[in-house]
Amino acid sequence: MAFSTRTKSAVCALFILAMLLSACGAPPEPKPREIITIPDNTADPALWGKAYPEEFELWKKTAEPIGTRRSKYKTGMDSGALSVDKLSQFPYMALLFNGWGFGVEYNEPRGHANMVRDQLEIDASRLKAGGVCLSCKSPYAPGLQKEMGEDYYKLPFKDVLAKIPEQFRELGVACLDCHDNKDMSLKLSRSFTLVEAMKSMGQDPATLSRQEMRSAVCAQCHVTYNIPKKDGKSVGLYFPWQNSKPGAITIEDIILRIRQDESVKEWKQNVTGFKMAFIRHPEYEFWTKGSIHFKAGASCADCHMPYTAAGIHKISDHRVMSPVQAGMKSCKQCHAEDADWLRDRVFDIQDQVVSIMIRAGYETATVAKLFETTHKAQAEGKTIDQGLYDKAKEFYEEAFYRSLFIGAENSIGFHNPTEALRILGDSLAFGTRAEAYLRQALAQAGVVVPVKVDLEIMKYVDQRGEKKLPFKPELEFKDPMGLQDKFF
Ligand code: HEC
Ligand code: HEC
Ligand code: HEC
Ligand code: HEC
Repeated sequence: MAFSTRTKSAVCALFILAMLLSACGAPPEPKPREIITIPDNTADPALWGKAYPEEFELWKKTAEPIGTRRSKYKTGMDSGALSVDKLSQFPYMALLFNGWGFGVEYNEPRGHANMVRDQLEIDASRLKAGGVCLSCKSPYAPGLQKEMGEDYYKLPFKDVLAKIPEQFRELGVACLDCHDNKDMSLKLSRSFTLVEAMKSMGQDPATLSRQEMRSAVCAQCHVTYNIPKKDGKSVGLYFPWQNSKPGAITIEDIILRIRQDESVKEWKQNVTGFKMAFIRHPEYEFWTKGSIHFKAGASCADCHMPYTAAGIHKISDHRVMSPVQAGMKSCKQCHAEDADWLRDRVFDIQDQVVSIMIRAGYETATVAKLFETTHKAQAEGKTIDQGLYDKAKEFYEEAFYRSLFIGAENSIGFHNPTEALRILGDSLAFGTRAEAYLRQALAQAGVVVPVKVDLEIMKYVDQRGEKKLPFKPELEFKDPMGLQDKFF
């Protein structure tokens, strides 16, 4: 009997899957170790913990400081108490985000159990959007959204938080967010965001395989989102996936969506005076855009929740963290190389990405400063060519959103190295072209611009609102290839 090409490749895929499973071992089964029923809608993890104490103990550990720092670029776990200031690590961000909360305080992520606590400690300007900020923080968010409707998005953050029973106000991601209480299978609790977003690109969440669910539960929060505004108030929340297909949510589609919906331009950039949208932690979009691990059938949980022994049980490590911090254990489920070799691969990739990310960031900042010069010239009565100006603005936005996307993605490129370099290369190309248009417009108007534009970075670093974190120059990452000073 002859196999069609399709059957052959399916057999082949099955064979690879079998190889993967045998390398990784069979997954643990969620059998309750004691017969305890968990009532519907139980948010309190301690009650789930009665049936599943091992997972519960590991989950609790996400509140603890990670200890020895092994990561190169993820320094969020350094101090234990407070996470680390991204604006010190990448000072060009202080210039670009000047004008709203992210330009005041923008931190590296920390362990899951800290999420609401970190939100309460952060500068108040970051909570201005309102109750909507709870959406990827509290297991109560889906219930509140259903009950309160539009008020959930727009009422002040603290008012919506106050509707949560007091002892659970600071609870971060909980068992209920990812699990079905009946059989512990994985479940999506964020129907108002993720499920809607999947449907918007023609994907039926009910058909996701178990392996796909091991990433989808993370996609409830590790994604970018838009907050539509009406009269300055938040009135909704959605993921900008409308122009995309599963496995191909591109930065191009996201930018297109921003351009199609003016109401998501949430803030005004001070340097340029432009109204802008924002992009946050797009881990799921970035990783699923054809990365080698996504194509190989891996999941977020494979790398961030490796199987681990707990007494006689084999369980998934619920102390979700960086695999580098965890000693590369998860990688070794599939890779035969030793931990040092694997870690160095991560660092090599991150070095390459940081090199071009810093240059794309400073290029975008340079264009922003040239817009400032252009607007000053216009205010002084000089005539700026409108065609050149419009083209420069369009290209500037393209450069800005791309550099923002990679800067906000939390793996410093590791999740999808080739895609990171593609996006940053395009950011640089759009940025340099925008700069050329503006320089030409300024030259025509008789404005002399120096070859090296003074970015006044320290001015923006110092202008950080009432709860200013001290700028720590020792945290700044320099271009590992040493090219930064050549250009800026
Ligand atoms: C309910 C929303 C939510 C879900 C679901 C979620 N996360 Fe997170 N995650 C967050 C937030 C918010 C932070 C940052 C917390 C902070 O800084 O206080 C975070 C932080 C992290 C970190 C950094 C931890 C550290 O120690 O620095 C990792 C890694 C991570 N998440 C991976 C995952 C993976 C993998 C999944 C799926 C298995 C997942 N997350 C599911 C919201 C979520
Ligand atoms: C092939 C393994 C792998 C897969 C799959 C993977 N990650 Fe990661 N992830 C990493 C590595 C490596 C880092 C970089 C950690 C470092 O530098 O310390 C990272 C970093 C992160 C961070 C930042 C951690 C920190 O401490 O700040 C988050 C959050 C995260 N990943 C979430 C996800 C999510 C969500 C998914 C699925 C959409 C995912 N990861 C898929 C390996 C993986
Ligand atoms: C961010 C999502 C997330 C949260 C929060 C979470 N889990 Fe899980 N859990 C998972 C994933 C992913 C798996 C692996 C499931 C699979 O392979 O089908 C898992 C598996 C399990 C299993 C099956 C056995 C095992 O360890 O693989 C149990 C039991 C479990 N979790 C209990 C809990 C308990 C109790 C809590 C709360 C204290 C919790 N989980 C919180 C994502 C989560
Ligand atoms: C679920 C299995 C699985 C896990 C877990 C996993 N990998 Fe992989 N990895 C693969 C497969 C399959 C490939 C494809 C190439 C191959 O066959 O080696 C790959 C490829 C790679 C490559 C080469 C990428 C390229 O662009 O050529 C690197 C580097 C890598 N993995 C590092 C890691 C690191 C670091 C971790 C842990 C954070 C990790 N992997 C976790 C399965 C896995």
